[in-house]
Amino acid sequence: MGVSSNPLKQLFAVTAPGLSKAAAQELQRAGFQLQSIDDAGVTFEGDPRVANRMLAIPTRIVMRLGSFKAAKFEDLAQAKALAFPQKARISKIEVSCHKSRLYHSGAVEERLWTQLEALRDPSAGSLLLARIDRDVCTLSLDTSGELLHKRGWRLQNGPAPLRETLAAGILEIALAFAEGFGPVQAIVDPMCGSGTFAIEAAARALGLPPGRLRSFDCDRWNLGPKPQMPAFPPHPIPILGGDRSLPALNAAQKNAERAGVQIAFSRQDAAAFPIPEAERGLILCNPPYDRRAQGQEIAYERLAMLLDRCPKWSAAILCPRHRGAPPAGSHHHIEGSVALQNGGLPVTLWRIAPNATVGPIA
Ligand SMILES: C[S@@+](CC[C@H](N)C(=O)[O-])C[C@H]1O[C@@H](n2cnc3c(N)ncnc32)[C@H](O)[C@@H]1O
Repeated sequence: MGVSSNPLKQLFAVTAPGLSKAAAQELQRAGFQLQSIDDAGVTFEGDPRVANRMLAIPTRIVMRLGSFKAAKFEDLAQAKALAFPQKARISKIEVSCHKSRLYHSGAVEERLWTQLEALRDPSAGSLLLARIDRDVCTLSLDTSGELLHKRGWRLQNGPAPLRETLAAGILEIALAFAEGFGPVQAIVDPMCGSGTFAIEAAARALGLPPGRLRSFDCDRWNLGPKPQMPAFPPHPIPILGGDRSLPALNAAQKNAERAGVQIAFSRQDAAAFPIPEAERGLILCNPPYDRRAQGQEIAYERLAMLLDRCPKWSAAILCPRHRGAPPAGSHHHIEGSVALQNGGLPVTLWRIAPNATVGPIA
């Protein structure tokens, strides 16, 4: 079986719908060499031990092992010759077939197992992905293990917590937008629930790697000497969270402690949130998704009241897609939107800009 000793691999950062551009931006900030971007994620070169620790937005990182022509079952014997990392094992094979003569994914999986039996380890193996597209089979090995939104700090959930990877992607989009008006001096989530936005924002502001509290499948493989971790420069700014629910705030506080970040949490209605003294800041939140239209509208009205109190700030608000744009108050306007998904639900991230500013600088 082939073995590769080069620690730099062709990797693919799998992203949630709508987040591949934000992930590409993050990869570039972290110094990775990008190869291509598509709707499903970003192809790049790097060491998976670094990528898994440093990247906040991808769902998982997979390693491309190689591709070969596979028009008949016997062709799958080539899987054995691909360069698997030393000590890598396989626990599960997932096959997808598109426009190919080999179209029965179950039969392909069985054949692949007969070739790769020596690597089978149901308890400590990794997921192998086989994609057959127009008679070309590409094998990729999951390097992450547990999905990357599992950072290792969340024990306490509020109502409908966001996935950490989605929150980090939204933060990337929202900061790029808000910084177009000048440096962002504070970040506020006035409906913070279990604190996901605030904790992701605080870790980013301190330059803390998102994967600092956990391990990854690729840590078990022999990939050569331990790599140097690049550092994201810290830009400490005040990060604040608020909620009207005490249990939600308790959860947020405990999560923040486990994540090793300091956030000022306070209990009140969003409309009365004590905005810190900063000329420009960012309001980031996902209001409750309430089946009763009236209950939901009250939350949006409260947010618009808050926006009226900070005319030079920007905001990014995540809403169910069917709802349409949230009210932006008297001093702001909707500048644009991004289509995303939250737990399978179609949602829209609305970018809200201050009227006082003529437009993004850059
Ligand atoms: C969808 S949850 C936010 C989830 C959060 N992003 C997370 O990841 O855990 C919405 C939160 O808004 C809070 N909320 C609703 N109306 C509010 C208001 N008028 N003022 C402050 N908080 C409010 C709820 O208590 C709930 O915790």
